[in-house]
Amino acid sequence: MTEKILFVDDDPKILTSVRRLLEGHFELHTAGGGTEGLQVLQDKGPFAVIVSDIKMPGMDGLAFLAKSRDISPESVRMVLTGYANLENAVDAVNSGYVFRFLAKPCSGENLHNAIDEALGQYTMLRDRAEMQTLRRLKDAMEGIITGFVNLVEARDPYTAGHQRSVTLLSVAIAESMGLDADRIRGLRFAASVHDIGKVYVPAEFLNRPGKLTDVEFAIIKTHPKVGFDILDPVDFPWPVSTIVHQHHERLDGTGYPLGLSGEDILLEARIMAVADVVDAISSHRPYRPGHGVAVALEEIRDNAGTHFDPAVVEACLHLFSDEKFTLDFKAGEGPSCEWLRCT
Ligand SMILES: [Fe+2]
Ligand SMILES: [Fe+2]
Repeated sequence: MTEKILFVDDDPKILTSVRRLLEGHFELHTAGGGTEGLQVLQDKGPFAVIVSDIKMPGMDGLAFLAKSRDISPESVRMVLTGYANLENAVDAVNSGYVFRFLAKPCSGENLHNAIDEALGQYTMLRDRAEMQTLRRLKDAMEGIITGFVNLVEARDPYTAGHQRSVTLLSVAIAESMGLDADRIRGLRFAASVHDIGKVYVPAEFLNRPGKLTDVEFAIIKTHPKVGFDILDPVDFPWPVSTIVHQHHERLDGTGYPLGLSGEDILLEARIMAVADVVDAISSHRPYRPGHGVAVALEEIRDNAGTHFDPAVVEACLHLFSDEKFTLDFKAGEGPSCEWLRCT
């Protein structure tokens, strides 16, 4: 896209020669004075670069450039004047809103160079502003997802902290298996919301002690698909919805909801399946006390190669035996979890 440039000068001959020099290279607009210049900014903006003479009848150039900031704050401003003196140069520079001060006569080459530099400055400032906006959006999105996580866990106090534990263990397994940093970022995100689909499961099923009926269990088993439906419309840079969809699949095809097997299940989902089972068996549930980590590790060891990916199981066992990994911490304690902003 050609960027727009506004030239303001009360001398028609200057505007004619600027048109001859710049037309075809930029989208050029001109104005014969400050008031007309403000009108052009209003009607035809946004402009990347504004170049103004200083000494003009009515509103002078510095006053025009100062007012132009209200209408077009992102524009890069320059002065082109035949009446340069130290005082107005100092004023312009000290004001902080004039990027370059050019003296007439200004050769075509100098003018081109100055405009190129101003455009470079404009692009840099615009990119920086976009980065700030993206950062704010990212913070807002993380806040919304964290709110969702808290909502799901508030309805289901027995699994409060479960997603956090699964996140920590999944990330530790992925790191020890050598997954690259970006893939781990996606896994961290998916693990931290993996049971989000439980938001559709009636809270009384989740919280009541005693065995679930087949119907109740069938409803709970919908949560990976519900989670997928919630997350799939969001354009994440990672396959978050697919990982969540597959976290109860089993290597031999006996899992749910799709009955996928082997490498049809994403590695991230195979990692999360192990972390999920280890935390679920270790922790207290409404219908039984926690069995402890030793029983959980025995379960994954016994089912390596059938339910669980053997390489993932090996990495997990190694973490608990050699690296003294622990899930034995209360909310707010334990290893740090950058995404969930907890320590
Ligand atoms: Fe789950
Ligand atoms: Fe889970």
